[in-house]
Order: sequence, then C-alpha cells, then structure tokens
Amino acid sequence: MKNIILIGFMGSGKTSVGIRLSYRLRRVLTDTDKKIERLYKMTISDIFERFGEEKFRDMETQCLEKLLEEPEGQIISVGGGLPMRSRNRELLKRLGTVVYLRVKARTVCTRLAADTSRPLLQGEDREEKVQSLLEKRSPVYESAAEIIVDVDEKTLDEIVDEILGNRIFSQGKEWVSR
Ligand code: S3P
Repeated sequence: MKNIILIGFMGSGKTSVGIRLSYRLRRVLTDTDKKIERLYKMTISDIFERFGEEKFRDMETQCLEKLLEEPEGQIISVGGGLPMRSRNRELLKRLGTVVYLRVKARTVCTRLAADTSRPLLQGEDREEKVQSLLEKRSPVYESAAEIIVDVDEKTLDEIVDEILGNRIFSQGKEWVSR
C-alpha cells in the first residue's frame, strides 16, 4: 500500500487523525515534527529559537527525502508549514496519497487557545496570525492534495471514514506502488 500523508494547518487534527487511521489500517504512523525532534534531540520551539525557521524548513525537506527511502504503507503526518516549499510538494507527491485536513480559523483558535508549542502562533494577536497564515496557505494546501476533507465539527471516525471512502481508495489506486 502507498503511504497516506496528512497535511493541514496547525490544529487541523493531523496527529489525532493519523493515530486513528494507523489504528484502523494497522499501519505505522510517522510524524515529521516528532522525527525531527528525535533526530536533533530538541523541541520544535527550541529549534526555531536556536536555528531559525529557514533551518527548520531544511530539516523538514531532509526528513521527507529520508522517508522516500523507507518502506511504504505508512501514515505520515507532516508539520503545517511543510507543504509551502515547492520542493516539499514534489516530494509529498512521490511519497504517496496526500490528504488535506481543511479547518476553519475559528476552530484552530479554539483548539489552540492555550497552546505554547507552536512558535509561529506565540505572542499578541493570535487570531490575526491564524487568519492571515491560513489565507496564504489554503490555496497551496488545496493544490498539493488529492483528497480534501473538511474537519470542523466532525468526529475522528467520521473523518477517517471520509478519507477511506474516497474513490482513490475504493478503486484500489492506493495499492499501485510508486
Ligand atoms: C508549523 C506547524 C507545526 C510545526 C511548527 C511549524 C507551521 O506543526 O511544524 O511549529 O509552520 O504551521 P503542526 O502543524 O503539527 O502543529
């Protein structure tokens, strides 16, 4: 089976949906942020503080390149900003079926109201930051994805059912190896 890759804004539920998908399909779950944190033995916040965002983006690209060498059939959730690089979008396409979890700004703000782990959302005016980043990123997420699922107000199982019910999976296209 090809990899299934979850993309989407911070707070769209990539990690939770990834866990549920990996449980339902009995597939290994990989998270690019966690892989980077393990490799550098630092949190994402510390990486941003010490090396800056550009260096973190390079780490994301390297992480995708490594994943291409790993066995297929994984569920892969990626950091919210990763699809913004065109090189990363190319790599995502080669890696597997890309699923975009589309979320509304107000859902993100509710879910991440008390979050301190996302460097890009710290400080004043969190709602404006979410709004403007989401506006900039939405068309890119949409262009990078083969499947788009609106996640607001849906349960994890409803989201997973919608992903797996997509014709890409029902026609068995996910079984074609790259
Ligand atoms: C980021 C999203 C985060 C993490 C980093 C940057 C982004 O991952 O990679 O804080 O630019 O949107 P999540 O989407 O898992 O929160």
